Amino acid sequence: MVNTRKFWEESWEKHPQDLTNTYAHLLLDITDKSALYVGCGYIMYDIGILKPGYFIGLDIAKKPLDLSRETSYADGFVLGNGNNLPFKTDSFDVAFSIDTFTYTNNFYDILKEMKRVCRKSGRILLLEHGASNSKFVRRLQARRESKQYSLIGCHLMRNPEELVGKAGFKIASCERKFSGIFYIIEAGV
Ligand SMILES: C[S@@+](CC[C@H](N)C(=O)[O-])C[C@H]1O[C@@H](n2cnc3c(N)ncnc32)[C@H](O)[C@@H]1O
Repeated sequence: MVNTRKFWEESWEKHPQDLTNTYAHLLLDITDKSALYVGCGYIMYDIGILKPGYFIGLDIAKKPLDLSRETSYADGFVLGNGNNLPFKTDSFDVAFSIDTFTYTNNFYDILKEMKRVCRKSGRILLLEHGASNSKFVRRLQARRESKQYSLIGCHLMRNPEELVGKAGFKIASCERKFSGIFYIIEAGV
């Protein structure tokens, strides 16, 4: 399954409550930075708590952007695709994404675009789920993997840290949480 704009527009109409991670962005440090959130979804709890200097949310679907306008005081919301970001080169200090890469088959294209729009001193932050570092949990994930993928196009068994490394990015840190299922990755640009 390749997740297209149509897929996401329909998903946001059908089950918006399943697509929002609410507080996840609070795990990232973007204080005082100009930041781009790729695949921002519905920002239900304001990202303003993080005090970014300047903040833009981008999503491939329109509905979550309309919802976010009611709840988030971001500086702007942009409809667009992560693999073709409508921003000039060197526009942001930080480009980050949460629970979006797991759905894409063009991991590298989106990372490349995030790198392009970041300044040379900038950072890429990803919070993604993937294969656990617990054998037991990994077994459960493996059992569920194909069903989850055919239902919603989400990969359970990927290792986002490896994928970022293979894409040629230098990983500054990777923190694992909740049985190692969540990966908080910081990469240089
Ligand atoms: C599971 S939701 C997560 C939303 C939000 N990041 C969160 O954690 O609450 C994935 C989001 O990524 C968006 N998305 C998927 N593919 C995208 C792409 N190629 N470019 C931009 N946004 C995309 C979807 O529309 C959806 O809002």
